This record gives sequence, structure tokens and C-alpha cells, in this order.
Amino acid sequence: MTAIDAFDIVFFGGTGDLALRKLLPALYHQDQDGNLPAQGRIICLGRSPSDTAGYVEKAHAKAKEYLGSHYNENDWTKFASRIEYLKVDAHTEADFVALAETLNQFPGRERVFYLSTAPDFFAPIAKNLAAQGLNEGNSRVVLEKPLGHDLESSNKINDEVGEYFTEKQIYRIDHYLGKEPVLNLIALRFANTLLEPLWRREWIRDVQITVTEQVGVETRADFYDKTGALRDMVQNHLLQLLTIVAMEPPASIDADAVRDEKLKVLRALKPLSVDDVKTKVVRGQYRAGAVAGKPVIGYQDEPGVPAGSKAETFVALKAEIETWRWAGVPFFLRTGKRLSERLAQIVINFREAPTSIFGKNLGQPNRLVIELQPDESVRLYLLAKEPGNQTRLRQVYLDLDFKETFATRSPEAYERLLMDVIRGDLSLFVRRDEQQAAWRWVEPIIESWETSPEGPKTYTAGTWGPAASSALLSRDGLCWYEEA
Ligand code: BG6
Repeated sequence: MTAIDAFDIVFFGGTGDLALRKLLPALYHQDQDGNLPAQGRIICLGRSPSDTAGYVEKAHAKAKEYLGSHYNENDWTKFASRIEYLKVDAHTEADFVALAETLNQFPGRERVFYLSTAPDFFAPIAKNLAAQGLNEGNSRVVLEKPLGHDLESSNKINDEVGEYFTEKQIYRIDHYLGKEPVLNLIALRFANTLLEPLWRREWIRDVQITVTEQVGVETRADFYDKTGALRDMVQNHLLQLLTIVAMEPPASIDADAVRDEKLKVLRALKPLSVDDVKTKVVRGQYRAGAVAGKPVIGYQDEPGVPAGSKAETFVALKAEIETWRWAGVPFFLRTGKRLSERLAQIVINFREAPTSIFGKNLGQPNRLVIELQPDESVRLYLLAKEPGNQTRLRQVYLDLDFKETFATRSPEAYERLLMDVIRGDLSLFVRRDEQQAAWRWVEPIIESWETSPEGPKTYTAGTWGPAASSALLSRDGLCWYEEA
């Protein structure tokens, strides 16, 4: 781990939800754990006039709410002394002069500009930073998703930011890559010999990647209705998880060695034709129902959703990877809002024994289940004999429960990723070519939906999505994990 002496991290969108709910609490935790260098400022920017004291007061209230039992008055006071607030408008050059003055009080520090704003602001911010020479030296820029709306618009943003920052300075964040179980999957795959011989088409029957939420669109209808689940979750988080499952062993843990392997997976995804989309991709939208025992309204009735909206709040799809390792193994991806459970999970289903001495219908013998949330665990399912005179087999599992095994706090994804940016480690950030390959793969889906007279299939809130989602797997004689 590179040790650093001093840093300045600047949050554009400092008054926004992400900064208050995730970014500041993440840095607070790292400070509390003693991982932040003593010399380090957190400069929060917003468009509204406020002084540092006023901003810190607001941040304090939010942090207290989100940190729960981790909140400690003394630790917060120490942490908050790092925070400064500046009013900066992305389009106002003079504001950047003031920002440069603040930053130049300590030249030579590691400098991070975190762009937690709508992507329309990325280009003017990059330009205005460069005009003050703030793109030089140890400067890095973090770009939050969504980066564009499609391949063309993401290329445009990347080109614009690329005029002022080199690729090595650009950190495209996908917070799913910072989740502990995902990092553990990399360790599990490449630090052990046990799995590697089995990690291929000969032994794996199918892979299921599920990220479901109980929440609905919340207050984000304006953003979400233009975005939908495909762009919000599949193009980035789910495809990134798929690359971690499917990539070849990288030659080293260096950023580019890992990203080269992930890119190869994205490029090997079997392209979908507009016709394929009809049979391999399911889109859904929730209608009124009940989640966790409470009645909820349908998407169409959510405040801010335009009448007759065709935005998808659910996607399930079948992807295939055309490589010697994976040809013929379906990768089922699914995500959605207002579903039965909040769950993020990767399931690797191994093939059945070629013949059985224990009779028929034993069920799925072996599977590896990596749970990202709500719990963090890795479970390897096996068939074992029940005690007694009869030979009765039952499914049991070997369990790696992170909480029990390591007895330490599991850091939030943003903690790890923010520390990586401050240290200058790009391994867990998405390279431009990866992002392009992911957009290229989802484009036919967008195109097919845009030209289809049909809208999304509706599903009752609180279920696992439209029936077509189960049918997607049953056509291959398979079913989702919870249906088995
Ligand atoms: C974000 C999406 O990227 O990820 C949200 O924009 C979604 O719509 C969120 O709710 C889910 O993240 P997590 O870490 O809470 O599963």
C-alpha cells in the first residue's frame, strides 16, 4: 500500500445526496480507523452560498443519521476540522480562481476532484480546472456514473474530459467493485487453486447475478425515468460483476493487467441482435403491491413519473461469453426495484454428477453463492449424508461469514475506492475501453426497446419481477436460485 503524506479531496456536488450520505461518512470511517494522513483537507463545493460552519452543521446531521452506532462525537469533531466549504458554480470561471487559491495553499499534495454531479457538468468542470492549472501534477478526477446515455454520449464526455486529463488521471467509479465480497471473489479465484480447474464450461452449468432492491424510485423520478434499470444498473454494476466472475487470471494485480482481462470478457460477450432482445431480455415495471408487508404505489403513480412512462424498473437477461472457457454457459443477470428482497448475489451453479449411485432427483449438488448484501458471505453448497441408518442426502454448505471469520468492520465500498483514488490506484476503476465495450453490448437492447411498440411487462411490487423472468431460465431447463 502506497503511503501518502498529504492530500486534498474536492467534492463537486458537495451538498448532494451521495456526498452527504456516502462520501463523507466513508472518509469519516477511514479517519476513525487511522487511515487518513493527518494532513488532508476535504473541500466540499456547492452552488448555494454557505460558510464552512453552516455546511458542516448540515453534513453533521446527515452523517449522524447514516453512521448510526459508528458515530462518535469526538471522532466527528476531529474529522470535521478537515472540511471546508466553497461556493463554486461549474460554469463560473471566477469560482475556480478561488478554488485554485485554496488548493495552492498546499502545493504538491495528492489532489482528487470527485465529480458527483450530473454528467453535463463534467466537461465545464474539467475545462475550468485546467484553466487554473489544477489538472497538473498529482491531480486526479473521479467520474460518477452514469457516464452518458449511450455509447455516443459517453464517448463525447470522455473526449471532453480527456482533453484536460489523461486516462491515468481519470477514475471512473463503479461502487460495486469496492464491495468486500467482490474483492474477496478475486482473492478466492486467484489466491486458491481449488476453484480454478472447475471454473469453466466443463463444470459450471450457469451463473446468476442478482441485484434486487426493495426501494422504489424514491425522489429520483426525474433522473430514473430517463435512465431506467438497464443504464442505471446493468450497463455498469452487473456487467462489472460479470467480468470479475469470468475474467482470465491476470498476470498481476496491476490496474491495467486486471482491466485488460475484464475488457476481454466484455468484448467476448455474444452480441445481441435486435431480435435476440425479444427472447433474451425481459424488461419490467412495477405496479402497486406490498413490499416487506407494507402497501406501495406503482411506478406510474410515483411523483414525477410522466404518464404512460415506459421506463423499465426491472431487467433480466441472458448473456453468453464466446470464449473457450465459457462458451455455452448462460450468465443470467437480473436487477430491479420494488422487488421481494434487497439482495446482491452471485450464484455459480455447478453441473450435476454424470451418473448417480444415490438415485435420481438429488437436486442441484454444488453451488457457490457469493452474497454481497444484505449479508456478506461466501457459501459452498455440497450434498452430504444425513446421520442415520438410511442413505439420505441433504444439501449443506461450507460457510465463510465475513463478520464471524474476521471479526472486524467490513468497510463500505466507497471507503476502499476513495482511499484508492487518494493513493492513486486505478485497479478498481473502469477504463474507458471497458466502458465503451459495455455500452456497445447494451446498445441493441436500447435500440430494440426504443423501436418496439410494446412497453415493459408489469410486475406486482414485492414479487421477484415479471413471470417472463422465470420463463427466461425455464427455456434452458433452469430456474432462479430462490425458485430451486
Ligand atoms: C446506484 C443506482 O448506482 O446503485 C441506484 O443509481 C441503486 O439506483 C444503487 O439504488 C444501488 O447500490 P447499493 O450499493 O445500495 O446496492
